[in-house]
Amino acid sequence: MKILVTGGTGYIGSHTVVELIKSNHQVVIVDNLYNSNINVLDRIEKLTGVRPLFYQVDILDYENLEKVFKENAIEAVIHFAGLKAVGESVSIPLRYYENNISGSINLYKLMEKYHVYKLVFSSSATVYGDNFAVPFKEEYGLGDTTNPYGTTKKFNEIILTDLCKANENMSCVLLRYFNPIGSHESGMLGEVPNGIPNNLVPYIAKVASGELDHLRVYGDDYDTKDGTGIRDYIHVVDLAIAHVKAIEYCNKLEGVDVINIGSGKGYSVLEVLHAYEKACGHKLPYKIYPRRPGDIATCYADIEKAKRVLGFEVKYDIDKMCEDSYRFTIMNPEGIK
Ligand code: NAD
Ligand code: WQD
Repeated sequence: MKILVTGGTGYIGSHTVVELIKSNHQVVIVDNLYNSNINVLDRIEKLTGVRPLFYQVDILDYENLEKVFKENAIEAVIHFAGLKAVGESVSIPLRYYENNISGSINLYKLMEKYHVYKLVFSSSATVYGDNFAVPFKEEYGLGDTTNPYGTTKKFNEIILTDLCKANENMSCVLLRYFNPIGSHESGMLGEVPNGIPNNLVPYIAKVASGELDHLRVYGDDYDTKDGTGIRDYIHVVDLAIAHVKAIEYCNKLEGVDVINIGSGKGYSVLEVLHAYEKACGHKLPYKIYPRRPGDIATCYADIEKAKRVLGFEVKYDIDKMCEDSYRFTIMNPEGIK
């Protein structure tokens, strides 16, 4: 298929483009490069032998986004483009609502106009909020989100559900990702956070490389095995493969379907830290800090539906996630420039 990938030079997008090309799909990328680098294209080409067509376009720019649809016979869309920093979304909510909702509506309008009816959307486990018991099941529906970022994901899910009701040709898969970490095993693609990372593994990576001196562990008094928070980490390459399966599933899907993408296993903050110590070969200092506001104790996925509907199961374990993250960190001290 000819697939438009918005946000295709970003962290999850770039890994997905590699897997799409490996599965013989043609890829057109749209990205405004706000949170990614043009050199990702060289790296995708080195890994796959194919340079995807690239448009530096903001999805808020309807006219230029329309050119992409005019110039290419797009058959399906994977929509990653969005802002994703939870804390920032609390400080500048309108920027998040504009980018993640108005930008997405531009895209959905153009899909209708150019009769492109297959879409995979990047949703998040954050839409479960703090309402439900683990493991989180798709049938729980949408919880009370705790920040504007999460609310943009929830609104997109509602918009796409309504769109599928209104247009019987439309097929949308809403993938609720849990915690994607790790990097391509070549060390050529990975996550490059701006400034001091908010997320656990990017932060640990900087402690491992000596850039930061210790990990702040946010809370050791949760009701969990060692008192620290538990999350469902998934290797970004496994997540990328799930997208290939999801876009192919659109060919037989009618309407909307919601699918969790995780490993189904929960690891504590200290377990992840110790796995990273194995990967980098030395001890990593940490100190206990108060709980981070908004955090829940435990979050992991019920993965039965992904297996049943997509035939998807993860291949990589926590050790491999940490090894690949560390390799990328060491090989790219300046990020992807
Ligand atoms: P990322 O920031 O690495 O990639 C997003 C890409 O979108 C970037 O390259 C950025 O430049 C681009 N972009 C942002 N706004 C744009 C706009 N208006 N027009 C064009 N391009 C734009 O993030 P990621 O981690 O790869 O996440 C991809 C998607 O998955 C996002 O929608 C994110 O919310 C969602 N998601 C991520 C996680 C995670 O932990 N990384 C978890 C759940 C869901
Ligand atoms: C994981 C665990 C922290 C940093 C976020 C978003 C979610 C999704 C994925 C996009 C928690 C602890 C963290 C640190 C720590 N993104 N921690 N020290 O919060 O589960 O999910 O990313 O959709 O929406 O909220 O991920 O990596 O920030 O935290 O102790 O320096 O690590 O308290 O228990 P989170 P995370």
